[in-house]
Amino acid sequence: MITLSHVDKQYRDHHALNDVSVQFPEHETTVILGPSGAGKSTLLRAINLLERPQAGELTIGDLHLNFADNLTSKQILKMRRQTAMVFQSWNLFPNLTILENITEGPIYVLKQSKEAAETRAHELLKQVGLDDVANRYPNQLSGGQQQRISICRALALDTDFILFDEPTSALDPELEAQILRILQDLAERGHSMIVVTHNMEFARKAADRIVFVEDGQIEFAGTSKEFFEEPTQRIKDFLAAMKL
Ligand SMILES: Nc1ncnc2c1ncn2[C@@H]1O[C@H](COP(=O)(O)OP(=O)(O)OP(=O)(O)O)[C@@H](O)[C@H]1O
Ligand SMILES: [Mg+2]
Repeated sequence: MITLSHVDKQYRDHHALNDVSVQFPEHETTVILGPSGAGKSTLLRAINLLERPQAGELTIGDLHLNFADNLTSKQILKMRRQTAMVFQSWNLFPNLTILENITEGPIYVLKQSKEAAETRAHELLKQVGLDDVANRYPNQLSGGQQQRISICRALALDTDFILFDEPTSALDPELEAQILRILQDLAERGHSMIVVTHNMEFARKAADRIVFVEDGQIEFAGTSKEFFEEPTQRIKDFLAAMKL
């Protein structure tokens, strides 16, 4: 379980997260929805400590921290290892092969043997239909292929949770469908995932839970069924706007 309690993030002139308390259960897929600028990325980045809120608490499993405290880099690393993040633009290392991109974290961070890391990498590559590109470099792959590799890279870290921030928004519709199928497959296997997306079809199909964010606040957190079948007026308006 990931728990955020009373989290506050103030950018210089913008209150991006306003007293946010929310939980993300394990083995479930939570989809974060909300208008542009609502604070979805900030929320995700706070969980991964890429963003440091000024106040509030974060608990992941049995690790706990208070954002107001001075955190040691050791503490931050330990916490960060609980989650892996997949970004909108797949930032693979251009000077490493696909295989090396995937095994770099497991070998240097998790201290796995090269053999074990490579065996696992090939398994993951097969899972996304790309085992034949293991020895290529990122610039020799399409955007959709690179995004599949960045999903493999996140999976190879073997974290409890994987966080996705609009993983398909830079892709054309066909490639988007391909990536979403991979995510849906992971969801069905019971991975613990938090996914920021604007794709409502994916939210309907794959989400166990929905968190709806607006103006830095949680407007709704509950089951997907409740969100789509018993929407409040605000949610109805949002869903209607998304259909346009
Ligand atoms: N580094 C920053 N400095 C100042 N303001 C920021 C910074 N990052 C984000 N913001 C502001 O905080 C608010 C929330 O941003 P955030 O990126 O979390 O929104 P979002 O919900 O992910 O939006 P989108 O759907 O467009 O990605 C926005 O108003 C944004 O302009
Ligand atoms: Mg965002």
